[in-house]
Amino acid sequence: MKNVIKEHLKENYLLTKMSNKNKTIKLTDKDLILADKLLSLNSIANTDQLKNKIIYQDIFEAISYLPEKFIDLLILDPPYNLNKKFEETSFKAMKSEEYEKWIESWFVPLLKKLKPTASVYFCCDWKSSVPVYNVLSRYLIVRNRITWEREKGRGATKNWKNCSEDIWFATVSDDYYFNADTVKTMRKVIAPYKNNNGEAKDWFVGKDNTAYRLTYPSNLWTDITIPFWSMPENTEHPTQKPEKLIAKLILASSKENDFVFDPFLGSGTTAVVAFKLNRHFSGIEINKTYCLYALKRLEMAKENPSIQGYENGVFLERNTLLKKLSIQNDENLNSTYAL
Ligand SMILES: C[S@@+](CC[C@H](N)C(=O)[O-])C[C@H]1O[C@@H](n2cnc3c(N)ncnc32)[C@H](O)[C@@H]1O
Repeated sequence: MKNVIKEHLKENYLLTKMSNKNKTIKLTDKDLILADKLLSLNSIANTDQLKNKIIYQDIFEAISYLPEKFIDLLILDPPYNLNKKFEETSFKAMKSEEYEKWIESWFVPLLKKLKPTASVYFCCDWKSSVPVYNVLSRYLIVRNRITWEREKGRGATKNWKNCSEDIWFATVSDDYYFNADTVKTMRKVIAPYKNNNGEAKDWFVGKDNTAYRLTYPSNLWTDITIPFWSMPENTEHPTQKPEKLIAKLILASSKENDFVFDPFLGSGTTAVVAFKLNRHFSGIEINKTYCLYALKRLEMAKENPSIQGYENGVFLERNTLLKKLSIQNDENLNSTYAL
């Protein structure tokens, strides 16, 4: 009997603990008032009118009201070529050639909105990657393809589990901004090399007694965590991008006060990260609930402008924060890394 009670208490204790740790952002009745901040365009807007505003509208309606040449950095995360439900709207998978035409139908009008020095990042999965490349290479200079590891791949028995996504990088011209120094990653050094004087070669020992090196990022990213319930950036949006991922794009390819635009804004990740990094932003989203998430996240960002996985100007390896917490709890080790 005693054991049964113990089990019962343990179960309930764990359940209580779990729910306390769930940091998913929820909308309440109080948040509905935020909708007053949303824009809907019915005449040509100027850049100042768009600054730091979210447009609650269909991209196909809003696009012709956007001013010309106002975008420094365009981040594109449209529905992938999959059947997907987004609140009141849904996207239906189509043949690859049709998907390419669908992309062109909004991408070509957007080209006029780019500054001659602008950069473009286009998110996709393996299946949409080819049509996305085809469209980009027709109109812009394609410079690279980033592949990032999605930890949360869906298991498959008749195929390889899908655990990666692509982001194509393109620019309007050869005159573009790129700053690799802003996106260095702190990585563990497996074999720390010393020179003949016994000095560390480009690495240092952190306060947790581990050797680290700051490295320039490649086009293969394995340090990204998809938002989940214990992360304070998490919402109910089904395809929310991690702030850390968008932060890398924004830091490398824009300067403070540049204009970052995202016409498929979803839960607002691009807007929130742009705000946290002192860039101007705007974006379009067709579903009101997602617009409200974006606005709520922007309010939260005023209180807490930190980006999980990005500290002291460097990106940390995946789940380092958790590791750091356990280090802080260990009295023998001195909390944080020596940077
Ligand atoms: C892949 S999600 C973007 C997720 C976003 N990056 C985030 O981090 O939350 C694509 C978004 O495009 C929106 N969308 C789809 N069709 C649209 C349209 N015609 N106009 C504006 N937004 C649209 C969907 O509602 C969805 O939120």
